[in-house]
Parts: sequence; C-alpha cells; structure tokens
Amino acid sequence: MHSSDSSKTSIGGISRDRIAQLRETEGAAFRKARPKSQAKVGNGLPGFFGGVPMHWMNDWPTPFPILVDSAKGAAITDIDGNRLDDFCLGDTGSMFGHSPPPVARAIRRQAGRGLTYMLPSEDALAIGPLLQQRFGLPFWQIATTATDANRFSLRVARAVTGREKILVFNGCYHGSVDETMVRLIGGKPVNRPGLAGEFRDLTRTAKVIEFNDVAALEAALKDRDVACVIAEPVLTNSCMVLADPGFHDALRRLTRETGTLLLIDETHTISTGPGGYTRKYGLEPDFFVLGKPIAGGVPASVWGMSDEVASRYADYNRTKKPGYSGMGTTLSANPLQFAAMRATLEEVMTAENYDRMDHLAQRLDAGLTGVIDRYRLPWHVARVGARVEFICAPGPLRNGAEAETAHAPELEAAIHVALVNRGVLIAPFHNMMLISPATSGAQVTRLIAAFGAVAAKLAA
Ligand SMILES: Cc1ncc(COP(=O)(O)O)c(C=O)c1O
Repeated sequence: MHSSDSSKTSIGGISRDRIAQLRETEGAAFRKARPKSQAKVGNGLPGFFGGVPMHWMNDWPTPFPILVDSAKGAAITDIDGNRLDDFCLGDTGSMFGHSPPPVARAIRRQAGRGLTYMLPSEDALAIGPLLQQRFGLPFWQIATTATDANRFSLRVARAVTGREKILVFNGCYHGSVDETMVRLIGGKPVNRPGLAGEFRDLTRTAKVIEFNDVAALEAALKDRDVACVIAEPVLTNSCMVLADPGFHDALRRLTRETGTLLLIDETHTISTGPGGYTRKYGLEPDFFVLGKPIAGGVPASVWGMSDEVASRYADYNRTKKPGYSGMGTTLSANPLQFAAMRATLEEVMTAENYDRMDHLAQRLDAGLTGVIDRYRLPWHVARVGARVEFICAPGPLRNGAEAETAHAPELEAAIHVALVNRGVLIAPFHNMMLISPATSGAQVTRLIAAFGAVAAKLAA
C-alpha cells in the first residue's frame, strides 16, 4: 500500500496534516450551522452517562450529536433545520426508509389495539407463512433484536449437537453476543480488545479463523467439536469483504461433512434482495437470522430453522430436564412487531423496491469509483446489493485482517463530517451507504457530487 515511512505521515494516500486541517475546518462549519443544537447538546445530553443515552452516539465523528427533529423517507432534519440526505438509515434499522407509509399505518392501527400481551394476534397467523415463503426455512421464532436471535440460535445449535464450541470469522460482528467476541491478532485467537468486564477466556469456546480461508475452515472443523459456524455471507462489520467464488459452497460442504450447523446472519446482507443473500445465491443454512429492518424500524428479529434442526430440537426438548431454556424476552412476539413486520414483508420488501434500490446502488458505486479514479486515490468501492461502501485503501479485501488494516478512522471521520456539511449523512463506523426504496436519483447525484468535492479537497 505504502511504505512504513509514508504511513507515518499519510493515511489512505492523504497527508495527516491535510486530514487534520479538514477535520478542523469541517468541525467549525458543523458547529456554525447548528447554534440551537450546540446550545442543547454541545456539552452532552443532561441526565445521561457520558452525555448520551447510548454510548455509541459518542462514536459519531461530528463535534456533538446531530439532534434530530424528524426523519421521513430518506432524509433527516435536525433541530436547526438542516436537512440531510440519509444514507446511514439507522445503520440498517431504517433500510426501507424512515417510517415507510405502510408500516406507519400498521403502527397506527395497532396502537389502539394493545401493544404487548404475550399472546399472538391475527397478524402472527400471516407472518409464519410469509417467513417460510420469503426465506425458505420451515420453522421460525420471533425475538426483539438480531443479537438475541443469534444468541438463541446458537443455544439451539449447542443443544442439538451436544457440542460446546462455535466458529466465527475474524472481523465479524453479530450483535453483543458474548461468545462471538473473539479476534485473531497476529494469527492468535484472543478476546476482542476493549470488552468491558469480560473475565472469561472466550477463545475456550469460540474458534476464530479468517473469512475466505477454506484450509483454515477445514482444519478448525475436523475435530467435530464445533456446534455451529455463525457467518455473515459478506463481512459487513469491518471494511466490506466479499466472499471469494466457491467460498460459500466450501463452507456448506465442510460444515455438512463434519456435522456442524451453519447460521447465516442476514441482518445487513438483506440489502441483497427480498430473500437476502441466501435466496439470491442459493445458500442452504440451518439457521437464518434477520433483525434490524424486518419490522421497518420497530425493534424485531426473526430466526428460522431447517426441518432437520427443528426435529432434532423437538427431540431434545422431549428429553431435556424441565425448566427455563435460557431463551426469550418478555416483549418479543408482541402484536406491534407483527403488525409492522407484516406491513414490511407484504408492502415494503417487494421485488420492485429492491430492483430500484439495486439500480441506484449501482449508480452510486459507479459514481464513487469515478471520483476515486479521477483523483487517483488508492481507495475502492465495495457493494452488496443496496449496501455500498467506499474504503480508503486498495481492494478488494479478502479477510478481516486486511479489513482491519484498511480501516482509516481519522480520515474516515474527516470525510464523514465534510459530507454532513454538504448535506449527506453516511454511517459513522465504516463509510457505509444504504439505498432505500425512498432514496431518489437526485439524492444519489448529490452524494456523488459531495464525495467529489471532499475528494478534491483531500487530493488538492
Ligand atoms: C450482522 C449483524 N448481526 C447482528 C447485529 C445485531 O443487531 P442488534 O444490535 O439489532 O441486536 C448486527 C448489528 O450491527 C449486525 O451487523
């Protein structure tokens, strides 16, 4: 990429001085445009630890949080009246736009009929078959977060295989599921750096290997002690890493040969199409997990099981000691979730909407790549359906270690704030941009232009 000498003075081909300069001028412009917000949250939100109601709100690189007045479709307006084209979309929770009209109607309808009662509603009758048809697995459960859907699936996987270990790919994120919080550092499995209050050695029960490494996968599964591989079809939680041709075939073949179950977490890759990456590329997982946008922004998640897993789980339940399974949260499978999920599946996650999203995402991909080429930046663009990322390093990336090295936090932060000042909001963590059904061609054009203007400043 660049020599170690130049990496001391530059990041992603841009000098550190220029990055610092951009950060400063853009930070000042951000403040100037937000006098009301600065007065209200410039020193944090009162009453909250660390000045924010959720700690990751401090991870946004803006000088203080954008205090939102309202969001509609693919735009957010802050309390100072600044309108932003929203390509972050709640980091996928609002992937189908803010308050999609069918979901808003369903929420209004359900609001007068009770919000949670630990009993099914008639919408639940529709959801089971909808999930079967859409995602191809025959048995489903509802949870409230993708984290929980993953956690519960892994519990079932361990129960039915009688195996303790799981396997994850380096650089993964599947929510705050403790047992997945491992990393390969210098080729050695370790607890993920930064974990708070974690005293257990998580590598005792979790194996971690690099994505796209079939030989390592074969070696890790051969002892037949892994209950389940949990994987995103594309690594999206570091800089984006696409699967090599044949990788998913090898993953399925090796898991089957060793009696290991396979969980495909589609929480982000649902950007691929109405049935996710799984349907588009014919994956055959034992478990399928989807959270975030499945109910159009109302907290909900789904986890599906194959026939075989379901029947083994039923057998297991018949023989296990009576008592609490360790799964379930009180507000899961509530009628508001079902109403919102039904509207999302039936009226929002449609093939027509996905066609539109894909088309605009292709345009965005080509536009950003054009800018990168024009300024001869050592960067690239990666895309999985409606999910697009620019990465401030050459690509494509092949695994989590490469993705970690490609990550350029200081440069990404400066670009992020500069884009906000030009009316565009992208995800704060890894330059991610989502296209929703509500996103317009004009918004994509504005994003490409804003990216071009920022690139011109950096490359000048
Ligand atoms: C692939 C994947 N799975 C699961 C999760 C967890 O989702 P939640 O925070 O809604 O539990 C995330 C969150 O970013 C994710 O990216």
